[in-house]
Amino acid sequence: MPSFRDLSEKEKARKNRDRHLLSSSPTGEVFGSAFEELVESGEIEIWKTGEVISPVRAEIGLPRVVDDGAEMAAGHGKIILFGEHAVVYGSRAIAAPIPLAVRARVVGENDGVWLAYPRWGVEQRLQRDSTRQTSFEAPAALLLGELGLSDRSMRIEVFSEIPRAMGLGGSAAVAVAIIRALDRHFELGLSDDAVNGLAFQCECIAHGTPSGVDNTVATFGQPLIYCKTDTPSFQPLPMTQPITMVIGMTGVEGSTAEMVTQVREGRRLYPSLYDSIFREINGITQNAIEALEQNNVEKLGELMNLNHGLLRRIGVSSRELEELIRIAHSHGAYGAKLTGGGGGGSMIALLPDGGNGVAEVMRDAGYRAMEVQIG
Ligand code: PMV
Repeated sequence: MPSFRDLSEKEKARKNRDRHLLSSSPTGEVFGSAFEELVESGEIEIWKTGEVISPVRAEIGLPRVVDDGAEMAAGHGKIILFGEHAVVYGSRAIAAPIPLAVRARVVGENDGVWLAYPRWGVEQRLQRDSTRQTSFEAPAALLLGELGLSDRSMRIEVFSEIPRAMGLGGSAAVAVAIIRALDRHFELGLSDDAVNGLAFQCECIAHGTPSGVDNTVATFGQPLIYCKTDTPSFQPLPMTQPITMVIGMTGVEGSTAEMVTQVREGRRLYPSLYDSIFREINGITQNAIEALEQNNVEKLGELMNLNHGLLRRIGVSSRELEELIRIAHSHGAYGAKLTGGGGGGSMIALLPDGGNGVAEVMRDAGYRAMEVQIG
């Protein structure tokens, strides 16, 4: 089969139309979500997705987009251990990377900018008209503009292991992976701080008014204490021992932007009440830093429970999160709380070493769960 660049203009136009149809037709969307479900259910391992999609793409004449295990630029997923929502109003938060990441690479293309997210069945040409850009396109367009690459041709391929909208920092990790891939391909020499700053701008598109905690963990990939001051600052988290946590995913997509807006509205109506809750959360975070320094897991668990109680009061928990938290408590968790924006998404539980089989019980109840070591 002739390569794309050897085709006549007419054939190129036809292929481009096919590519667009694949990403925008109902069939493409159905294929994308069916595929996502297979991955979520564990029927298809993440590393196999490229193998499954490749023959389909080859059949309709698209270039191969395969996660061949080659070293790629990466952005880390994260959990927030303490302080979500309050961090938007200047309180401190504790966050840590998890062993799920987004990897990306930029490959040569001579026909405009293409975005490929094989796991989600998305392959589309970047629209120049910003009013028509999808949530996949807008951050990429912003980055190309900021980096002076808008008139270059390329294909940006993104491979994500982080489930979407599960409060695990997927959007920030995508941004960081793309920035690092552009940096590598075009040899831009970006510093970590520059990567972090650009990822923050992408987060503003995704979430409106982010605190910056997600992009900071996605960039630096280490447990940290974050504070959104005029110039956002973070310190490495002083931990003496790793701790075992289970992440329980509700499967219900939580919109961080919506939850942050809901909390802002609550604060507008009851400013002193909300501010006192945020101050309490800040105090809990301070105590948690000390508990982590002393490796006092019982105290840490109690503080997680207290933090969750306050998050419930500002209305960001959900039925599924509460069910997962109940499962954790009934299986010996020191503590449990929602993590991230809430309204769905994920929760975390702190467990004795070995995890007490909690992840399995959560899976039996129909949720996804994974055990992680923090620190
Ligand atoms: O839902 P996530 O993973 O994007 O986390 C959001 C954390 C918030 O504190 C609710 C918002 C923010 O920007 O810090």
